[in-house]
Amino acid sequence: MDEAVFDRIARFYDYEQENFVKDIPFYVEYAKKCGGEVLELACGTARILIPIAREGVKITGLDISKEMLDIARKKIEKLDENTKGDIEITQGDMRKFELKREFLMIYIAFRSFQSLLTKQDQGACLECEQIFVARKD
Ligand SMILES: C[S@@+](CC[C@H](N)C(=O)[O-])C[C@H]1O[C@@H](n2cnc3c(N)ncnc32)[C@H](O)[C@@H]1O
Repeated sequence: MDEAVFDRIARFYDYEQENFVKDIPFYVEYAKKCGGEVLELACGTARILIPIAREGVKITGLDISKEMLDIARKKIEKLDENTKGDIEITQGDMRKFELKREFLMIYIAFRSFQSLLTKQDQGACLECEQIFVARKD
């Protein structure tokens, strides 16, 4: 998928998705159970990431779109200091990322994996070193 697609639609994204919340409890529950740091690949505007951080879970979000992340950062800025402190946001490509940290849970939500249109890109994502670190435990 053209990497700029989400830059172009970013300002509409939260308006379009504001009523879609039914997947959030699923990720929040797993994140709480994992008992460690969490990584969301393709976190977008932090639709799921913020509810997880609100539960006191340390979470990093990675996304390729600067515009989506700018919106996420504005939302995060309004959170209380504790919740903000549990969040890290970074711009990057889920096909080639290396955060040099360990995560006990890594997830890709809301069909974002479908943005990787070739087997090569999908394989590159699943083979990132970070994913293997998460699998060890
Ligand atoms: C449908 S949105 C989902 C956003 C968020 N996970 C949610 O549940 O609302 C897909 C996201 O995937 C991101 N994305 C697409 N290709 C990517 C890539 N190669 N690396 C990182 N993020 C990517 C887009 O920028 C966009 O924010």
